[in-house]
Amino acid sequence: MSATQEAPTSSPIGRRTPRIDGPLKVSGMARYTSDFKFDGLVYGVPVGATIANGRLIKLDTTAAELMPGVRAIFSRENIGKMRQSVPSENGGTCEERRPPFNDDIIRYYGQYIALAVADTFEHAKAAADSVVATYESNTPNVASHLEADDDPDQIQTTFGERHRLQSERGDADAAFADAPVQIDYTYVTPTEAHNPLELHATTAKWDESGLTLYDSTQGVVNLRTILAEMFELPTDKVRVISRFVGSGFGNKLFPWPHTALAAAASRELGVPVKLVLSRKMMFLNVGHRPRTQQRVRIGATKEGKLVSLQHDYIYQRSILDNHHEDCGETTPFQYSVPNLRVTFGRAARNIGASADMRGPGAVPGLYATESAMNELARELNIDPVSLRIMNEPEIDEGENLPFSSRHLVECFELGAEKFGWSKRNPEVGSMTRDGLILGWGMAGCSWLAGRFAAEASVELRDDGTVSVACATQDIGTGTYTILAQLVADRIGVSLDKVEVKLGDTLLPAGPLSGGSMATSSVVPAVLGAADKAIGELIDIAMTIEGSPFKGLNSDDLKLKARVSKVEFAEILKLANRRSVTGNGSGAGSFGDPNAEFVTHSFGCHFAEVTWQPETARLRVSRVVTVIDAGRILNPLAGRNQIEGGVVMGIGMAMFEHTSYDPQNGAPINSSLADYVMTVNADAPKIDVHFVEYPDTYINELGARGIGEIGLAGIAAAITDAVHHATGVRVRELPVKIEDLLG
Ligand code: MOS
Repeated sequence: MSATQEAPTSSPIGRRTPRIDGPLKVSGMARYTSDFKFDGLVYGVPVGATIANGRLIKLDTTAAELMPGVRAIFSRENIGKMRQSVPSENGGTCEERRPPFNDDIIRYYGQYIALAVADTFEHAKAAADSVVATYESNTPNVASHLEADDDPDQIQTTFGERHRLQSERGDADAAFADAPVQIDYTYVTPTEAHNPLELHATTAKWDESGLTLYDSTQGVVNLRTILAEMFELPTDKVRVISRFVGSGFGNKLFPWPHTALAAAASRELGVPVKLVLSRKMMFLNVGHRPRTQQRVRIGATKEGKLVSLQHDYIYQRSILDNHHEDCGETTPFQYSVPNLRVTFGRAARNIGASADMRGPGAVPGLYATESAMNELARELNIDPVSLRIMNEPEIDEGENLPFSSRHLVECFELGAEKFGWSKRNPEVGSMTRDGLILGWGMAGCSWLAGRFAAEASVELRDDGTVSVACATQDIGTGTYTILAQLVADRIGVSLDKVEVKLGDTLLPAGPLSGGSMATSSVVPAVLGAADKAIGELIDIAMTIEGSPFKGLNSDDLKLKARVSKVEFAEILKLANRRSVTGNGSGAGSFGDPNAEFVTHSFGCHFAEVTWQPETARLRVSRVVTVIDAGRILNPLAGRNQIEGGVVMGIGMAMFEHTSYDPQNGAPINSSLADYVMTVNADAPKIDVHFVEYPDTYINELGARGIGEIGLAGIAAAITDAVHHATGVRVRELPVKIEDLLG
């Protein structure tokens, strides 16, 4: 059906397809938000509070206003009106709902108090640095030990603090008390910063058509909703464009105050305003994974059968915001256990709003629960793989529903085989190689699967090319390529004939690039749009004089098959049409009271560390990861996601943490020099395997999602390997060398 003779001999689905946008990226032609330039463009640099708790009592902008090139210094006095976005049925999602400059109360270090705008970035920065603020300052609460705050909705648990009930079955307390073997430990995960390579950036522009925002975002449609609400505009008067995003890991999922600041400043000045955050601001104003403290209690029989599981967790949050870090998401269904209780509490701190960070909730949650499983295996002297297989559930015992597709046992078995797990001697410090002590550890993982609502359009053109459009965005994960693969497969053209349009709210509404759900969400919309376009073409073909299809029955599926073997460009030319377009849509999968299955992806990690006690040198030397995420549409991009997750997981286990200065509430480490992350030298050989069982409950291709699961569970596998090598069980991440020095 292609206008060329290059129609693929087999489907591009499931093939190792390199990114179609790769050449644009490596040649510097891909335009990221801060690359767009406009006539009259001016630059905004925010001023952040240098206290974390108190009140702004005076803002002296006189010196700043006289600085070269300055257009304005904005504050609460002159920024103009911005409405607070309100959660509602049709509303957008927003982690920090307070509009910037809304009051004079300072709730965290770095909270914006002013915005300097000038003709160059340097002038704006110099002016911002010249703004003088006077505060009434109180001691900030940035305490790292977490105790749940009072909250009217919370219930009393035996944990001794005030917690909310999340999930319960049986009698967890009684079963724990009677259990022959008991595990009771508390695990701590630190505040982590997302640190995508591309800084947050926005350029706002007003004209007769309304507000246009170029923004580095994981959700153009949601951003449009929030900005329309804040600026009291109909949504069709707001356009958001995000052609390329240098990743986000969740901190670009939802809008942050700097975007509204740029829009407000542009509205006041009548010129486009560009605002790019500094790396330091990336630690202050655009979210972080909140610190968690999780008590896990497991009661088991001597043979290793779980009889009771309790997971009571507390997370840190900001003073005003309601981010929920759902550490208990996977606890009710990961293993079979008749008695279970999951509760959570929250502890407010003078820290900016927390946010989803790659695998939010489940990643810190699985670190705790999978670590507890490993401690139980050690206590019982049972192999940790066998312990897990022994407790494999038949159904989701929390929801009392079957899984759409769960092949976790196969993941464990394949992972053990690929890693060589049968050669493990469980005795601490007993395994060596080349003079190094080896540690081997493992853990299971899971991540939710589902679909957001999505729309897409597909246009067949008379030059033999196809265009597919959807207002989702590619955050670096390969969404451009996936859409091209879907359309190439359905229409029967080669990939180079497909143009993909993403990242613009003028396109059919598309999903957030989040929750590992972009791919599973766009499949029905894109395939539906392609089918509609083909249907249109068939209708045209049947009516054209001289067409071989004239007069045939359009319901005849054989006809459809025949049309798809002829060149659509020829039919369009015969019909004197430039193109035909089809629209498709897919429904979201959340909140369906009639759901027949629960949908999750599963997997496991096997990790090896090397330990050199003489020099206190600890390295992750090898990782085998097996993932059950349904059908993998692009194994190259899929593997890349899992490897990235594992690398980030090594960071979670060994390096990453943000600490706050108790005196001024500022992060002590807020640069890429001080916030240590995994670099190439820390990344070992990562062996990724997929068990591919198409999950057709999710979509017709059976593809779930793959962006986040690679980070789930890996920290528990590494800390178990550290224990195996050193005998030290680290229950507060990251593992520090001083933890290991006896
Ligand atoms: Mo992800 S935390 O949904 O970007």
